[in-house]
Amino acid sequence: MTTPPVDQTSVMNRTLVMNNPLADEGEEQSWEIDLLRLTTAGSVDDGKSTLIGRLLYDTKSIFEDQLEAIERASRQRGDEEVNLALLTDGLRAEREQNITIDVAYRYFATPKRKFIIADTPGHIQYTRNMVTGASTAGLAIVLVDARKGVQTQSRRHGYIASLLGIPHVVVAVNKMDLVDYDRNAFESIMEEYREFAGQVGIRELTFIPISALRGDNVVDRSENMPWYTGATLLEHLETVEVGAEEDHGEFRFPVQYVIRPHQDFRGLAGRLASGTIQPGEPVLVLPGQVETRVRSVETAEGQLDEATAGDSVVITLEDEVDVSRGDLLVRPSQLPTVNAGFDATLCWMDGHPLETGVPYLMMHMTRQVQAYVSEIVYRTDIETLERTPAQTFSLNDIGRVRLVTARPIPFDSYDENRITGSFILIDPHSNATVAAGMILPSGSKEHEESSSAPDAASPNVVWEPWNIRREEREAAYGHQAAVLWFTGLSGSGKSTVARLLEKRLFALGCRTMLLDGDQLRHGLCGDLGFTEADRSENLRRAGEVAHLFFESGAVVLGTFISPYRADRERVRSLFPRGRFFEVHVNADLETCVARDPKGLYARALSGAIRGFTGVDAPYEAPDAPEIRLETDSSDPEVLVDLLVNRLREEGLLPVAAENNLHG
Ligand code: ADX
Repeated sequence: MTTPPVDQTSVMNRTLVMNNPLADEGEEQSWEIDLLRLTTAGSVDDGKSTLIGRLLYDTKSIFEDQLEAIERASRQRGDEEVNLALLTDGLRAEREQNITIDVAYRYFATPKRKFIIADTPGHIQYTRNMVTGASTAGLAIVLVDARKGVQTQSRRHGYIASLLGIPHVVVAVNKMDLVDYDRNAFESIMEEYREFAGQVGIRELTFIPISALRGDNVVDRSENMPWYTGATLLEHLETVEVGAEEDHGEFRFPVQYVIRPHQDFRGLAGRLASGTIQPGEPVLVLPGQVETRVRSVETAEGQLDEATAGDSVVITLEDEVDVSRGDLLVRPSQLPTVNAGFDATLCWMDGHPLETGVPYLMMHMTRQVQAYVSEIVYRTDIETLERTPAQTFSLNDIGRVRLVTARPIPFDSYDENRITGSFILIDPHSNATVAAGMILPSGSKEHEESSSAPDAASPNVVWEPWNIRREEREAAYGHQAAVLWFTGLSGSGKSTVARLLEKRLFALGCRTMLLDGDQLRHGLCGDLGFTEADRSENLRRAGEVAHLFFESGAVVLGTFISPYRADRERVRSLFPRGRFFEVHVNADLETCVARDPKGLYARALSGAIRGFTGVDAPYEAPDAPEIRLETDSSDPEVLVDLLVNRLREEGLLPVAAENNLHG
């Protein structure tokens, strides 16, 4: 990172001139090394503006004219002391005249280090501010009001900081003056927050009791809290270890503009998201997959031998290949994923709730693409950190979703690359930023390898949104779509129970579909045998078919041995939480062998069939199925009653006993 964000340069340069102790020494390097980016977050009235004002004021990082202005304004308001919030609010007003970005960056410096604070206006949409302001931060300050203690928002900020991979979190327990600098008040907040932080995996956590208003422990040590022996906030900011910005080294260059000043020159302008590049190296243009070489790497000052992460450069290529804004240059040996869908952690930041199946505009690096959320996998409850099923996300909700993009796009997971792995969603009607997301790694390597047909679509396949959304169908049919995935040994009774259940559901007026292993293996899966890889592919296809029927609003019953846990989990991952039920149909192997409805156990035991599940091929029983049925000991009709009741309890079928939806 060598250049400050463009939009903020006016504010920053002014401050720079005013108070940059190192400016005269012209030490470019120290700018690189000793820069800490921090983000602040707090609920309404937690004192964020005052804290930032205090940091700027006590480090003398403001202008004489500004200082005089706020001193005058404070006097006029009858404030006892200089009202530091006026400082940040004033700067904000100034900024809002020219810039329409929701994060403002403030710059200040001490002889030890330079700082950029991502300050976030707006009281309600703090999550939005936090996410967009924090993505490159090295430290997050979470403000907690000493009188109010740990609030949901305090947890949310910490949680987001950990999701964003911000290495240091400081909990600044503010307004200590209002609790008489009481040590117990501070320590109980510390205890409560520490427990929470342990659960979300915040890497390094520091607690500092402060009063931003009075200046206690912000820059100067407080005389009111002799019991606190730790660092003041500024001391901490000055000494906290700033790791070199994580760069996983893979070259990623999102093309911002194609520059063509005259016939003979065509350059690609942009900023290296990660890695390095030198003239002569081979590159691939994505998503088109055209390979060429770098001819030159240029800046306004001239040609470079090498560009590194963060550099803004113009790259020229050896060949006249088709490149446009939004494309990504990579090394052919370091490919990102190219796909038209992925799972992501999504922070919803808009007053209008998320609508699944509805297109939003996704801004991903320099690219814009239509995208919709196909499934909400779960929502995280910020208080308990439990993952709960959800139909939608409202303001400030966070959770895991599945996204589908209109075209395949290249990306990395956020873990691998903060830039190529993050995005925002925009509502095309209101133009508001409605969500920020972090792409999650795709399924485990194992199943990628064992599957003969990858999930990824060819780059030439264009996604079409559903014509009629599932929710509309469900409303028309009077029940919800669901999937019951019956797994168990051959002869355990999967088909028997599922067939009875389907009849019952149909009689109740439900749309249903029964997908049966033996049946699919006669058609769609007729090319597959019973090796581990073939079973995996069998279940991949079965899962996809189940998904199509699910989207049509049906209650889908799948009866497949599905002996491998990973395959079942993969099917599960296609459906929203609360709609997929793994039903373990359990019967002793002896019972199944005794039943042997198709005579297959006899043949397997005699060696005529190889790799038969339960005989000489494994069955990995589910650890925590949603439903377990004991067919040894229960009558199938009783089990069907149980299943129907369960679907009613889950709110998927109407409750009325005699309800016939066909009626
Ligand atoms: S799965 O393992 O891929 O889930 P699936 O449920 O589709 O299996 O098919 C299982 C059915 O195929 C059994 O009910 C049985 O009729 C038949 N079958 C034939 N060979 C085997 C085998 N080696 N192991 C298990 N089932 C087999």
